[in-house]
Amino acid sequence: MTDQVIIKDDGAIRTIRMNRPDKKNALTAEMYAAMAEAIETAGGASPIRAILIMGVPGAFSAGNDLGDFMKAAMGGEGLGNSVLNFLHALARCERPLVAAVQGVAVGIGTTMMLHCDYAVAASDARFSTPFIALGLVPEAGSSLIAPRLMGQRRAFELLVMGKPFGGEEAKAAGLVNQVVAADQVEAEAMKAAQTIAALPPEGVAISRRLMKGEPAEIVKRIDEEATQFKLRLGSPEAREAFQAFFSRKK
Ligand code: COA
Repeated sequence: MTDQVIIKDDGAIRTIRMNRPDKKNALTAEMYAAMAEAIETAGGASPIRAILIMGVPGAFSAGNDLGDFMKAAMGGEGLGNSVLNFLHALARCERPLVAAVQGVAVGIGTTMMLHCDYAVAASDARFSTPFIALGLVPEAGSSLIAPRLMGQRRAFELLVMGKPFGGEEAKAAGLVNQVVAADQVEAEAMKAAQTIAALPPEGVAISRRLMKGEPAEIVKRIDEEATQFKLRLGSPEAREAFQAFFSRKK
């Protein structure tokens, strides 16, 4: 287990807090595994009715740990199963997912929003997916869900051109529901989670399934993206981009 993810149950709400502030919540294999387990065990007969995902002040998540990307790029063995298991858990999640986003939300920090049912962003939130600049391709089912959600053009700007979206732009694109001051973001997201948790659970579950469609469709796209992603991780473009990040001058 890792202390870089803090899981707490408070009544019908499970909170998952990414907690690696010194690295802006860059996600490691252990962190993905802890989050996947927290999502999976909230399903079935669990009394949990909503899951709230949060980060720390200034950082929802800086995305996948680039050191892990670098290792995968050099070793050619891919990222292991924990990232994919986490993405599958998101797609198959049986309970409504709520996000509270402060500060940076890079890569998976942004594409996680596409699996959330409700998201609150702080006015300092900055969503970005620099996949192409890193020599990579979009992941987490984003190539399927983002064009449906915000239209092909805005999805292209975000996912391919790597244009960062501030809170208001994210709201206009439908990526988040609400933008509030940073010190209000967790309270507002908790309020939304409690509102959802108080609804009749079977009606919520059936509605979610009807609205989101079959998880198998999303899982299939996640796997197709992962095949391309693994190939791209070994590309010279990707290696150069990871090296540039770690040799950058501050
Ligand atoms: N993987 C590994 N370490 C990361 C990281 C990542 N994705 N993002 C940030 N860090 C580390 C930095 O190396 C730094 O560590 P150090 O203090 O030991 O040098 C620390 O977190 C703080 O980051 P820093 O860059 O100094 O903070 P910042 O506020 O200036 O910038 C970001 C924040 C997120 C904009 C910037 O760190 C960044 O661009 N990170 C990479 C994001 C990324 O490309 N993710 C992959 C998406 S697919």
